[in-house]
Amino acid sequence: MSSTAPVPEGRPITVCEVGPRDGFQNEKTFIPTEKKIEIANALFASGLRHMQVTSFVSPRAVPQLADAEDVLAGIDRPDGAWVTALVPNLRGAERAANCALDAVHTVVSASETHNLKNVNRPIDQSLTEFEAVFDRLKTAGIAVEGGIATAFGCPFEGVVPAEQVARIARRYQELGAESVSLGDTTGMATPLTVRAAVRAIRDAAPGLDIHLHFHNTRGVGLACVMTGLAEGVTHYDAAVGGLGGCPFAAGATGNICTEDLVYLLQESGYATGVDLDRLIDAALLAQSVIGRELPGQVIKSGPRLKRHDPELTTTAAG
Ligand code: COA
Ligand code: ZN
Repeated sequence: MSSTAPVPEGRPITVCEVGPRDGFQNEKTFIPTEKKIEIANALFASGLRHMQVTSFVSPRAVPQLADAEDVLAGIDRPDGAWVTALVPNLRGAERAANCALDAVHTVVSASETHNLKNVNRPIDQSLTEFEAVFDRLKTAGIAVEGGIATAFGCPFEGVVPAEQVARIARRYQELGAESVSLGDTTGMATPLTVRAAVRAIRDAAPGLDIHLHFHNTRGVGLACVMTGLAEGVTHYDAAVGGLGGCPFAAGATGNICTEDLVYLLQESGYATGVDLDRLIDAALLAQSVIGRELPGQVIKSGPRLKRHDPELTTTAAG
């Protein structure tokens, strides 16, 4: 399938759709595999090319994503697609190595308590196991995006120092990661913490590409994107409809919403490659499959220049 989306002019920027992973993992009711595939394909059809499609985690920890291999085998990859999946350990890397993937998103938390909750081991044990994970993926020709969860704060420990995030980023660089992704697991990022983390990583691991992954838990997700843009970061994760959240982090809520992010970026002069109308169609599909109103805003309002019929709008008669 190839996209019919126009490629708008503007500064290039990458929007990575993480709804099929971060979004679906937080849904209690199992979404049938063919519906997951249909939503992923609708998202690709809007022009999105980067997508985190699923996770290779324990099916007991996240039953919703137990169909990872089937989803990956079922999607239609358009030209230029960059398909990733989350991996926490060597078993996950083994599974990933047998699938059509461009990159794996490994995950370790910057806070000890969240790493124990999320992957049942201390941070340093995760980092040690990543040596074998990186080796396995390299053999399979799969790139690695080093994910760092709770990068801007931890719901159990509070403040996460930028130096701790930079230490893990540096380790990822030594292991051979192409990029690091700073995960704002429970929406604790603020413009100041984003700036501090990005600058600390640039000092500790020069040349390492930085991706930003915000949740909108406190309503400042897009403000954090603006800070990232000011710092020169050109890769942002978002979830269709504003789905998302980590089942192993108290108070986790949705990612920043893909339609809202694309709207903001396009109106700020960036070329996302996405057709916003088709993206809204994909969000409406996701909303009907999930079966409840999703938090995104552009899905409700439509694009800025959507015209309304005056005949259908109440007149304030005197
Ligand atoms: N895929 C599938 N099964 C896996 C697996 C993987 N990546 N890793 C471990 N397992 C299985 C083992 O085979 C074992 O199965 P068995 O009991 O039938 O023999 C079982 O899970 C326990 O294995 P163990 O290595 O002891 O894992 P654990 O219980 O310490 O859990 C994780 C560690 C990482 C597997 C688990 O915590 C996890 O999946 N976390 C993911 C959390 C997540 O997705 N968070 C949201 C995204 S940030
Ligand atoms: Zn997330």
